[in-house]
Amino acid sequence: MILITGSAGKTGRSVLRALVEKEIPVRALVHRPDQIQAVASIGAQDVIVGDMNSQAIMGQAAQGVQALYHICPNMDPDEIAIGQNVIAAARSAGVEHLVFHSVLKPQIEAMPHHWNKMRVEEQLIGSQLPYTILQPAAYMQNIIVHWERILSEGIYPVPYPADTRLSLVDLADVAQAAAIVLTEPGHRFATYELVSSEGRTQIEIAAVLSRELERPVQVTQVPIDDWCQQAYAAGMGDYQVRTLVAMYHYYQEYGFLGNSKILTWLLNRPPATLEGFIKRKMNARRDTY
Ligand SMILES: NC(=O)c1ccc[n+]([C@@H]2O[C@H](COP(=O)([O-])OP(=O)(O)OC[C@H]3O[C@@H](n4cnc5c(N)ncnc54)[C@H](OP(=O)(O)O)[C@@H]3O)[C@@H](O)[C@H]2O)c1
Repeated sequence: MILITGSAGKTGRSVLRALVEKEIPVRALVHRPDQIQAVASIGAQDVIVGDMNSQAIMGQAAQGVQALYHICPNMDPDEIAIGQNVIAAARSAGVEHLVFHSVLKPQIEAMPHHWNKMRVEEQLIGSQLPYTILQPAAYMQNIIVHWERILSEGIYPVPYPADTRLSLVDLADVAQAAAIVLTEPGHRFATYELVSSEGRTQIEIAAVLSRELERPVQVTQVPIDDWCQQAYAAGMGDYQVRTLVAMYHYYQEYGFLGNSKILTWLLNRPPATLEGFIKRKMNARRDTY
């Protein structure tokens, strides 16, 4: 049995799907009772509802599992404390392998959510638990947030300059890589960055969208103040808004690039391209990642 934390989120559901496809029994930790159905319908064998901050919940969730896949909620100010709680629960339950869903280049202090993940990596490395650390780039799936606008107005809005170059990865490839390191031998004490290509500017991404959708799509830079207003109006918390603004400033100044060799080796095939991802999205149900 493998435990996935954060399993009702978009990453969690993808990793769950990849493990269920391999017929691996999964216990899903979800935050709220109304998330049980989502993970049960994918094939979670066992579901626990509760807070990752709680020692009691994590103790119960880790009991009897061989491996644990830890996905912290996105931009959680308590990421370090949650990581410590998960590691402690895994150690006392005798979990044999802890895989941490980190992020590409966690050593960037200017991005608080990256820096927090590096502190969790550090705890894990010192924990004496067999571990694997996965460091995915930003998901191609983030583009889907703007899908309606891309289709209806031909506009791809980003809160950084159009020539900002970023590496992306398909979440489906990340999930497959996760399933591989969880179920195949030879990945203990490894750290892998998961990236699909060396990166594209936002202008190049809009050009791919134009070609694949067979209609003009233009990138538009959203001023950061407007973006903040929209984020607050949509109910995003202050920590999350400030963290994302820090990330956008970093992207603007330096871009954010990684390398696809490790993911190619892990999957034993080239990672999905943005073109392939968009084709799949066009043929898929709206909620499919
Ligand atoms: N998005 C990217 O491009 C990207 C790239 C690389 C790495 N990552 C990392 O991937 C991770 C997951 O991101 P995601 O977008 O998949 O997350 P997500 O969709 O926000 O999912 C997080 C899940 O955790 C649950 N949760 C929140 N607080 C909890 C708590 N205290 N205890 C138990 N469960 C709790 C959430 O439930 P509620 O709905 O109740 O809050 C949700 O189901 C993050 O750590 C992120 O940094 C993301």
